[in-house]
Amino acid sequence: MKKMNFKPVLTAAIIAGLAIASVTIPSCKKKDSTSPTTMTLYDSLGGSTMVTDPAISGAMIEKGRLGLRSVVDSTIFVIAADTAINGYFTVLLAEVTGGNTTGFNALSKNLTDFFCYATGAKNFTYGGKSMTEAHDPAQNSRMNGKADAGDFDAFVADLVKGAKKNGLSDQLIGQVGALVGTLKTQVVQK
Ligand code: HEM
Repeated sequence: MKKMNFKPVLTAAIIAGLAIASVTIPSCKKKDSTSPTTMTLYDSLGGSTMVTDPAISGAMIEKGRLGLRSVVDSTIFVIAADTAINGYFTVLLAEVTGGNTTGFNALSKNLTDFFCYATGAKNFTYGGKSMTEAHDPAQNSRMNGKADAGDFDAFVADLVKGAKKNGLSDQLIGQVGALVGTLKTQVVQK
């Protein structure tokens, strides 16, 4: 698996996304006007504050990661029911239908890591395929065909539905949408 070209591509996307997503918060105390606090999109989603993980008894999780994981898992279910694009996920859907959730768990983790990293989390990184590799059927046998621009828009619409199911504000949804928009040229390969 070739990951060499992942960093520059994702880094460029992340820089673009974070530039859109970053919010400058004016300091309430009058101290150093040259170093304002910059909040990332990840911070806006709850950041690194530890909360109990509702999925694992006794475990804690960063609030930002929990929010993103919830959006990711909801989105996978929305996509699974979306006949416009669920045909791309035939491998995953066949596994889940057969009671095998290994691929689902791996996708949930990879997508959650991806969004944590891309939104500015400090404690998580992404170790999956590059966006070009992941969406090229020749390099990822789990991708059933090349996606076109309409598929991409359908995917983003499903992501918005997944975000709304988890109570994200329209403003945060807009920022996540802007971030994924920067990846369109890598995902759309038809
Ligand atoms: C900006 C939008 C998108 C992002 C951020 C994204 C992200 C990802 C990530 C992180 C993975 C996992 C890669 C790995 O396992 O190493 C993945 C896999 C995949 N993506 Fe996307 N994706 C996007 C759009 C799309 C679209 C538009 C389609 C098709 C309509 C699609 C179909 C798939 C499929 C079929 C897989 C493999 C799923 C599996 O493991 O069973 N993605 N994507």
